[in-house]
Amino acid sequence: MTRATLISLGSINADFQVRIDQPPGAKETLLARDFCRFAGGKASNTAYLAARFGHPSLLIGRVGDDGLAEQTFAPLRDLGVCLEGVSTAKSEATGVSMILVPPDGKKHIVLASNANDQWDDAAIGQMREAIVRAALPAFLVLDFEVPAAVVRLAVEVAQARGIKVVVDPSFPDRVADDLLPAFLAITPNPDEAEGLSGKPAASIEQAATAAKALRERGVDIVCVKLGDGGCVLATADTLTHLPAERVDVVDSTGAGDAFTGLFAIALSEGHAPREAAAWGVAGANRAVTVYGSQPGYPDREQLLARVPRILERARTLDA
Ligand code: RIB
Repeated sequence: MTRATLISLGSINADFQVRIDQPPGAKETLLARDFCRFAGGKASNTAYLAARFGHPSLLIGRVGDDGLAEQTFAPLRDLGVCLEGVSTAKSEATGVSMILVPPDGKKHIVLASNANDQWDDAAIGQMREAIVRAALPAFLVLDFEVPAAVVRLAVEVAQARGIKVVVDPSFPDRVADDLLPAFLAITPNPDEAEGLSGKPAASIEQAATAAKALRERGVDIVCVKLGDGGCVLATADTLTHLPAERVDVVDSTGAGDAFTGLFAIALSEGHAPREAAAWGVAGANRAVTVYGSQPGYPDREQLLARVPRILERARTLDA
């Protein structure tokens, strides 16, 4: 079976992570433990998953000319991710995420975008070249943690080659309305769904309303990732709630990227949106059980063991 190339475009970060005993407050020094450095950034995380699932995986983004980029590249190199679309911004730092994980696992992230926001003409040319040369069939998985103009051009180049586009809309204020019809699928969290649709999306019913509104604005498949690890899926035919499994949440960092990456991988393998959404839920549910983003990502066997349980509990909502 030919597996589609997964092209991941977006943020590339070095993650610095600690555990804390209580959420941070103002004007205090918190003591932390379990300091770890991880590879991170949304695009790096989806590129990692694509390679782990046996797809040709191509990362496109920007890093600084410091030593931090290696922190993110190491696990990607081990899996054979192609880094030819990654360029280096001179005299810039690589993107850095400082991550605090309290006992409930609901992380707090402070992000310094750094090189992710510094694209010159040469970098844009390298990005375009990488998409033009990617082996077909291909899917482009992107986020907006790089400049909106870069994303817009990437989408145009991808569309011209028949490459389907799956979007994590972080940061939502960078997502222009006229781009929405170019997306096959979008996977906002409730805040992002509200930012894009103007409708609250925290509950199942609200997420369904927001998802329908985004479909009306031109996105074919909308999947709102709920705060509890489940999702609401809206397609042309149906509206579905896929509940999360009950798991012990250790660390929610990168769970949304597991969702989007696996959702895109499943679509690229020809699965229907409902099954693809179950892959996303299963992957995110597994990811939160382990400290760190990529260390919690499942392999194919671990994922497929969970998917039937998620599908069994999926229920169709009233349109
Ligand atoms: O979505 C999670 C990723 O984005 C982490 O790896 C971290 O870099 C954050 O900013």
